[in-house]
Amino acid sequence: KNPVGRPADVTGREIESVGVAGAGLMAGQLALLLARSLRVPVTMREIDEDRAAKGLAAVQAEIERATARGQLGANEAEQLGSLLSVTTDVSDLAGADLVIEAVFEELDVKRTVFAELEQVVRPDTILATNTSSLSVTAMARDLQFPERVVGLHFFNPVAVMPLVEVVRAERTDDVAYATAFAIAESCRKTAVAVADAPGFVVNRLLLRLLGEVLGALEEGMPVSVADEALAPMGLPMGPFQLLELVGPAVAEHVLVTLRQELGERYPDSPGLAEVVRTGRSFVRGEGRPTASSP
Ligand code: 3HC
Repeated sequence: KNPVGRPADVTGREIESVGVAGAGLMAGQLALLLARSLRVPVTMREIDEDRAAKGLAAVQAEIERATARGQLGANEAEQLGSLLSVTTDVSDLAGADLVIEAVFEELDVKRTVFAELEQVVRPDTILATNTSSLSVTAMARDLQFPERVVGLHFFNPVAVMPLVEVVRAERTDDVAYATAFAIAESCRKTAVAVADAPGFVVNRLLLRLLGEVLGALEEGMPVSVADEALAPMGLPMGPFQLLELVGPAVAEHVLVTLRQELGERYPDSPGLAEVVRTGRSFVRGEGRPTASSP
């Protein structure tokens, strides 16, 4: 079995060009962080022009916001703008030394994306996944070169959260693994080596907390009470605000994976399912299908 823990005496690959599969919320934040930290061109790839344009606009808006807050100088903002681009053509990622995927949290979707990428990139291009809960080994299984696949799990908001989970799959080789640690370090993150287990470490724990809070919601506890009650415990935000930040649909996918893999400790949440189905919000008081609701 592949050992978990940063490999000694192995240097990661030199990264001169990065691809990001997806241009959604996490993908855009990752693209920005990688361009800013590695100072190399970063190209995001989306499946249609509309999503591509929206993704790039969100990244540009974030550059403007950070500049207005004094977190970026004008020169740096301009340089970042020129390093970042978006495409709908996967072959535009052909020259990348690293591609990180941040597409929808579903195994088949991610496997398709990796298979597609493998058709265009070099055999030694590192393929990283930002999955929060899925098996990296399963994602790599049918690839021609599965040894270049590694998990690199950043948290939302990517610019601020200090942790990265680095996941070694069954066949990940030392170079891909060492490169993942080196990238996390270049981004000034704390990298932790975690096993390729459902939810890794953070989401395995976080979803137990959120599951308990969602259970209390079913029993009639108001959303605002949960958020207020947990603030004095030192959490940076309440559990429902966190669900809003992560996205209820993403949280539901993680929950389903954990229930499938680890069982009833991760129970179904009708309240969460309802919010996902209707697009309502817990935090704005529109998504509280509690036991006592009319
Ligand atoms: N992008 C970039 N920077 C951001 C940001 C964003 N989306 N959101 C906040 N920031 C920055 C602000 O610019 C600010 O920077 P400054 O101190 O240099 O001015 C700093 O973060 C603090 O922001 P605010 O003052 O606006 O607000 P808060 O102090 O309330 O912090 C928070 C906001 C950082 C989001 C904080 O509430 C927090 O840490 N929340 C917990 C988030 C968390 O647990 N994330 C993990 C989710 S789980 C996950 O991602 C796994 C997934 O796989 C399911």
